[in-house]
Amino acid sequence: MSLAGRSLVSINDVSNGEVEGILSLANKMRDSKGSKLDLCQGKILASLFFEPSTRTRLSFEAAMQRLGGSVIGAVDTKTTSLSKGESIADMARVVGKYADIIVIRHPWEGAARVAAEYAGVPVINAGDGSHEHPTQTLCDIYTIKKARGKIKGLTIALCGDLKYGRTTHSLAYMLARFGATIVFYSSPGLGPPEYVLRKLTTEYNGVLRRPTGRNLSSVALALGGSGKASATLDAIYVTPGTSHDLALIPDLRAEVDLKGVDALYMTRLQQERFSDAQGDTRKAYPVVDKGVLKRKELKRALVLHPLPRLDEIACEIDADPRSMYFEQAAHGVAVRMALIALLLGMQQAEAPAERTLPEVVTQPEIYRSDLGSRCENPACVSVHEARYIAPEFVVCGNKPLTLRCVYCDYEKQPNYVGNLKSRIYYACQDIRAGQIKVSNSVFFDSEEKAQERGFRPSAKAQQR
Ligand code: NCD
Repeated sequence: MSLAGRSLVSINDVSNGEVEGILSLANKMRDSKGSKLDLCQGKILASLFFEPSTRTRLSFEAAMQRLGGSVIGAVDTKTTSLSKGESIADMARVVGKYADIIVIRHPWEGAARVAAEYAGVPVINAGDGSHEHPTQTLCDIYTIKKARGKIKGLTIALCGDLKYGRTTHSLAYMLARFGATIVFYSSPGLGPPEYVLRKLTTEYNGVLRRPTGRNLSSVALALGGSGKASATLDAIYVTPGTSHDLALIPDLRAEVDLKGVDALYMTRLQQERFSDAQGDTRKAYPVVDKGVLKRKELKRALVLHPLPRLDEIACEIDADPRSMYFEQAAHGVAVRMALIALLLGMQQAEAPAERTLPEVVTQPEIYRSDLGSRCENPACVSVHEARYIAPEFVVCGNKPLTLRCVYCDYEKQPNYVGNLKSRIYYACQDIRAGQIKVSNSVFFDSEEKAQERGFRPSAKAQQR
């Protein structure tokens, strides 16, 4: 199996088999620990970190050095020409001429995708705003598989700041694809973005159940420490065709509380992504401590965390055999060694002996046009770099018509659709709107915008 020349921007850029291949090569890399390999001798990794990082940057750099390659880097936009207004595209074009592979962390969502489009060499996303962090997911999955031998059939709880915690987004997709049941316990107001939940159901075809009424469960309550609920159960995702058909059970909360969870993946409050108006919710943040781990639902639960931790994991559980977070961080070097060697084409990975879960990924239609609607996420790279990025969306829902930005995954529902051939526009609910092929469509937010672009209202709209 070769991954030569590929980029890893989203965890969905690699198939389940490819992930297995990366992880099995990581095992070999781990065994070679200490002995410097020369697989990537003469190769250069550009390490571009425009947001703080300890583990991800240092483990990438250590990985490249262990592979015999070398590293060049920038750790702050202020020290690069981005601060002079250079575009990510131009920077990527240039760095792609100096290095054989690029690792980039940037606060704009979709920044790594743009870099990958222009660099001409493999690009690895080391975190783009609150969007995704695929290599952390590889470390997470590696850790769980090492401890439990499998992912399929496990029940994994994602907990804390699921809104801005990018690691939980990539991890949720991967867990769904490998057949785990996912329980989302968020700190109030920090539930998973709708686009993450929608992808799970529309692209991985699983069942998403949202509890009605008071979103409490005993695990959520336990995480509240003194009984004060500081975690709510947002949703439970169940893989299609799951054997214990959780999807049919009326009270999912009770079911999960009864069965317990196999891993609790905690995240810190991503305070740096909050606008001042949102304030500090740290006081009501969930905490895992000795008392919580005594609960029967968490008896066998591994405790994972991408780190850095604040107060959400009490130091008193560090020595508990279920606490996996330091091991998880340590795996970062081997996993990233495997990934770099594969993307540079210096290694082939063994294809998995047996097929894992049949991956259900539905490919939706792509819509691209610089005439109409743009993404509305202020953190999206296509908004910041609108001068050269044409809006691109996947059509991810029909009733109502919903577009999802290919850069940051944010969803929007445009109001009007124009037919490129007839130059007539319709309200999206108009039955005739649904008859226009996506390739002939231009979506608009308002009639004024449609008219500015030279589109005329449909006859029905004119009569009104
Ligand atoms: C995470 C990140 O940067 O998203 N850290 C990491 O890479 N291990 C998690 C975090 O910062 O909370």
